[in-house]
Amino acid sequence: MIKSVAMEDKREVILADTAGFCFGVKRAVDTVYAQLETAKESKKAIYSLGPIIHNEDVVAKLEAQGVVTVHSLDELKDKEAGYVVIRSHGVDRKTYEEIEKLGHHVIDATCPFVKKIHNIVAKAYEEGCKVIIVGDDKHPEVKGIKGWCKTPPYVVKTVEELKKVVENSKENYVLVQQTTFNGIIFKEFVEFLDKNDYNNVRVYKTICNATDERQLEAARIANEVDAMIVIGGINSSNTQKLYEICKMKCRNTYYIQTLVDLDLAAIESAKRVGITAGASTPNYIIKEVHDACQN
Ligand code: F3S
Repeated sequence: MIKSVAMEDKREVILADTAGFCFGVKRAVDTVYAQLETAKESKKAIYSLGPIIHNEDVVAKLEAQGVVTVHSLDELKDKEAGYVVIRSHGVDRKTYEEIEKLGHHVIDATCPFVKKIHNIVAKAYEEGCKVIIVGDDKHPEVKGIKGWCKTPPYVVKTVEELKKVVENSKENYVLVQQTTFNGIIFKEFVEFLDKNDYNNVRVYKTICNATDERQLEAARIANEVDAMIVIGGINSSNTQKLYEICKMKCRNTYYIQTLVDLDLAAIESAKRVGITAGASTPNYIIKEVHDACQN
């Protein structure tokens, strides 16, 4: 359902229902807050391995309460023993072991949907299959998934790259996708495999529903409005994809992190304005932008 607000000058602001925190991100942020309490009681330090979400504001708020963000296992080496929170993207198997070896406790906030991918790829080897990951090789989620594969996986981003892997190959494959991969583009992968009868490729659809729903709703709204605003962290891959999808449907699409980035003059003449937000965008930021567009 889409909420819309009619304005005196007839402008309508349409806010996507799916804008903002997804289940996994909310769960990770809640985990950190809950662990903060435990850490205070036991007088232990609490670390986040990488920013808990791609939102500088939220991270700053947590840091103010004592959460220390570290960017590598190396950084943990000199730190006093404490709790290390693994964020929703997940990490490779070795990282769990390394954290424990350094004397810290792992607090696993890996999203259950990502964990499911780890389990699929870990099993692929036993089934005699090689793994193909559709996604961005540099993304932390993909790096984590790779670390659960027992033989080196293929990471592909385009149908052309997939073709190079499977063409003339007698191997069996298990194919998974980064949870935030673009669902519309992924259809092309499935069509390619179906059309060419690649029965040796078993496809597990691992694109997260939250992402799918957010993308579909964003595309639908962007198609109907004069200006579209996408809110999210600059490093958030799901926000970047959301922006790409909206831009395809609406030329006047703006990518902002907070209200400060929004050029209200640019959308002044827009009669209908749509708003959506990536999975790491807290509600208060969405509300600020919504109110500014309305007023
Ligand atoms: Fe999990 Fe989906 Fe969010 S995989 S972290 S619920 S986008």
